[in-house]
Amino acid sequence: MDPLAPLESLLDTCRGDDLPLPPSLATLYGPLRFPAHEGRQHVIGNFVATLDGVASLSAPGLAGGGSVGGSNPHDRMIMGLLRSVADAVIVGAGTLRSVPNHLWTAEHIYPALSDSYRRLRSAMGKSDTPLNVVVTGRGGIDPALPVFRSGAVKALVVTTPEGADRIRKLGLSPAVVIREVKCAGAIGARAILSAIGRRIPTGGILLVEGGPLLMGDFLAGECLDELFLTIAPQVAGRDGSVGRPGFVAGKLFAPERPLWGTLSGVKRAGSHLFLRYAFPRHRPD
Ligand SMILES: NC(=O)c1ccc[n+]([C@@H]2O[C@H](COP(=O)([O-])OP(=O)(O)OC[C@H]3O[C@@H](n4cnc5c(N)ncnc54)[C@H](OP(=O)(O)O)[C@@H]3O)[C@@H](O)[C@H]2O)c1
Repeated sequence: MDPLAPLESLLDTCRGDDLPLPPSLATLYGPLRFPAHEGRQHVIGNFVATLDGVASLSAPGLAGGGSVGGSNPHDRMIMGLLRSVADAVIVGAGTLRSVPNHLWTAEHIYPALSDSYRRLRSAMGKSDTPLNVVVTGRGGIDPALPVFRSGAVKALVVTTPEGADRIRKLGLSPAVVIREVKCAGAIGARAILSAIGRRIPTGGILLVEGGPLLMGDFLAGECLDELFLTIAPQVAGRDGSVGRPGFVAGKLFAPERPLWGTLSGVKRAGSHLFLRYAFPRHRPD
């Protein structure tokens, strides 16, 4: 594989201390900083979308983000970078169902930089891999999947009491922690964060990798500090025959409750753009 060219940085107004990126990652990405918050974690999201806003082609075998982003190596390198600084990666059960053999680790998404990602985690004093968190209301998961069975990652399932009953009957490995949240309908993002909270240090980084339904809940709950959004230079189109969601589904914001972000980073590789936006976060009373 040809070595990656460094990203071209067009804007970077992000605050915080420089993270201890090893030279290979620092050269490719440039400095990476996150703002610190008193007494809470920093929550980031990462998505890829087409020029016309499609985040899933919803076609058999092509539902994952790879077909949206063209399996762009810079996008994967950034996914790996964000996973390597994350204490936990959170996905909805729909995303797991679309990539059932996936593990949410840096090495899994961009193996070529495995050593650099490991060095970064170690320099930040983090465990070998981020906690993999799966959110399911109904308990609609397959306990035989690698994320639960391989032993390569620690896994936690956030679900309802009904979902937990169902999962226990399926024979989930006892190594996987189940956290139950009592709720009617979808589990709110604040409840998801507090269910994970005890496992992650204050000041830690939580990475939400979707999908669109889960991201809608995080934005509705004002639980996302920042979004890393890759814009892939293709037009996917929509004809109404299948749902082709953007990176949010299941929630309406504009015009009644508009949700405006603040652009804090722009990078470029070829015709792919890598954007970073800050969002207002819920402040507990
Ligand atoms: N372009 C990208 O960057 C990107 C990123 C991620 C995913 N995707 C794509 O998006 C598609 C999946 O979309 P999706 O919206 O279905 O994904 P999703 O949010 O991962 O999955 C939805 C399912 O996850 C569970 N879930 C999510 N939020 C929940 C909540 N707050 N409370 C309880 N359960 C919750 C529910 O599972 P149960 O049904 O089990 O209750 C729900 O049916 C796939 O094609 C995937 O590849 C694209």
